[in-house]
Amino acid sequence: MRPENLKAPFKWDERKVLFQDRILYVPEYYDKYQEWAFPGWEDEQIFGNSNPLHIEYCSGNGTWIAEKAKINPTVNYVAIEKKFPRIRKIWSKVQNNGLPNLIGICGEGMKVTLHYFPHASVDAIFINFPDPWPKKRHAKHRIIQAPFVAELSRIMKKGALLTLVTDDEDYSSWMIAVMGGNTSFRSVYPAPFYKEELENYGTSFFDELWREKGKLIRYHQFERL
Ligand SMILES: C[S@@+](CC[C@H](N)C(=O)[O-])C[C@H]1O[C@@H](n2cnc3c(N)ncnc32)[C@H](O)[C@@H]1O
Repeated sequence: MRPENLKAPFKWDERKVLFQDRILYVPEYYDKYQEWAFPGWEDEQIFGNSNPLHIEYCSGNGTWIAEKAKINPTVNYVAIEKKFPRIRKIWSKVQNNGLPNLIGICGEGMKVTLHYFPHASVDAIFINFPDPWPKKRHAKHRIIQAPFVAELSRIMKKGALLTLVTDDEDYSSWMIAVMGGNTSFRSVYPAPFYKEELENYGTSFFDELWREKGKLIRYHQFERL
């Protein structure tokens, strides 16, 4: 299956929440979320089991999470990505590799979290190379913000790990500051609160791109207390 084989599920003016082709569509600029009754991740039509739930936000083309889903068939993975052309690439990996334990969500991270992840339900969260928005006046667009981190804290189980990966030094400091402002997390790593290698972590499109260009990567891990 090629990414283009996945057709857009609706026209913009007919947008709705829809679970189809192993993708949950959660439109932006929309307010009728209650019209689709979320059955729960363990429901037969979704994962059909109550295996541990791992989320990746900002999945891009899904290289990292599809590989994880392949090697860990007893973990349920959810890839959250707001751009449909990238969701299509995730979908084609699910189809071509036969991955019943990977579901894509086409939607914005904060909105999706507010509506579809119950309290203390998630075993691990990963955010690999979120857009750094390097200009100061654009920093408000970064996904790592105090209200978003508070939502992550709400949905994570006690002891669950949040892993944040970036090549951007300024974003790394921002992540450490925002996470430090939430008392329900503690950094797994002592000061300076990141590592430059994490064994067997896996790779992604942007990981390969930045490594080829000789950039250093920073891994941050925080435990939900
Ligand atoms: C720099 S790319 C990284 C992609 C992938 N993680 C990788 O390492 O190759 C950032 C991705 O995050 C997505 N994104 C940015 N903000 C988002 C948000 N608030 N919710 C969901 N996806 C988002 C973008 O569409 C883009 O695909």
